[in-house]
Amino acid sequence: MYSFFSTLPTPKPDPLFAIAAEAQAAGPNVINGTLGIYMDEDGKPLVLPSVKFAIAELQRNLQHFSYSYPPLNGLPDFRSSVSSLLVGTRNVHVASIASTGGTGALALNLRLLRMMLGDGDVPIIVPTPAWANHLPVCKWAGLAVHEAQYLENGKVSISDILETAKKINKPFGLLLQVGCHNPTGLDLDQKQTAELTAELQKFSCVVLLDFAYQGFKDEPETDASLIGQCIDARLTTLVTWSASKNHSIYGLRTGLAAAIVSSVEEKKNIDGNYSTITRGLHSAAPTFGQAIVAIVQNKFSKQWREDLRAARLLMQRKRELLKQNLPDSFQRSLAGYGMFAMLPLSPDQVLRLKVEEKVFLPLDGRINIAGIPEKRIGELCVKIIKSL
Ligand SMILES: Cc1ncc(COP(=O)(O)O)c(C=O)c1O
Repeated sequence: MYSFFSTLPTPKPDPLFAIAAEAQAAGPNVINGTLGIYMDEDGKPLVLPSVKFAIAELQRNLQHFSYSYPPLNGLPDFRSSVSSLLVGTRNVHVASIASTGGTGALALNLRLLRMMLGDGDVPIIVPTPAWANHLPVCKWAGLAVHEAQYLENGKVSISDILETAKKINKPFGLLLQVGCHNPTGLDLDQKQTAELTAELQKFSCVVLLDFAYQGFKDEPETDASLIGQCIDARLTTLVTWSASKNHSIYGLRTGLAAAIVSSVEEKKNIDGNYSTITRGLHSAAPTFGQAIVAIVQNKFSKQWREDLRAARLLMQRKRELLKQNLPDSFQRSLAGYGMFAMLPLSPDQVLRLKVEEKVFLPLDGRINIAGIPEKRIGELCVKIIKSL
């Protein structure tokens, strides 16, 4: 009997998850700089004290936790507390929907973008190098991807984003990361964001802000400043937010897709469109992570901010140690913020590091600095230098 299964392509394993699985299988003593997870000094995923408090609170009141279907747009407390994190006290309205992590938020917003910009070929500019999943998620949402160069001579540049925008003579989306850029760690500076938001006013475009690292560069409100700049520039703005990193609840798959709007009517309309999209995709997102984030934000916000401060300081200290112990050729790639840097290593050097030194990195040389114990950074640098 002919099987249509045979029409399927041979799947390629996700390169990042594949190397992460190799690192996991290689035992506890390897140096694992693969997946973007914030590890403690023992190499285990960190659980934030504020999140522990929230889970304890949730357990104490478990009889009130609903196991029923949630509203399609998610738990109201979760949506309102995260919306406040995005826009603070600004005089705007936020339409929103809970999602399965930041990836789910992106998938929802890309579908909303398609509904807004029409059924034909909907263009989206994706500055690259990008988070490894940006291009696949855009592709599966049926968008026409236009890649623009994010780096010029190793420095962040907006030139190619604007050049690419000029070549697209129809409304388009622009996917920008808000901070702690994945994979480079290098962000647009204040001057560049001011210039970019001013220039974008000349185009018919929707800005999609991917905000996966709020609180990893600076205080959460400071990190959200690009959202404020887009609002001030009156750009149509969508935000995809993730709780994976800044609440350290990766597996609970918790995120929010949001649209910054100017009226209650517009909010009602977009909330409704979000619920239509999610219903046709996978229905409502899981609620346990939403409940935790809502408790953290409403009851343990001070502790959460302290947790993030400690996480930021540790990441900065590790980055500093890498800078001090690696040669000049590495300095520019380590100039950024957050979990990641793209080390200037060839695929051959990355492979040598794996085979000879038991240091696991993806082939493009991206390192998750937050995954390496501080006490092993010196040892890592010696191994990297040996591999050159
Ligand atoms: C830039 C960026 N966006 C989105 C995500 C996805 O986040 P989540 O794991 O919550 O789906 C990540 C995760 O690494 C990321 O780096």
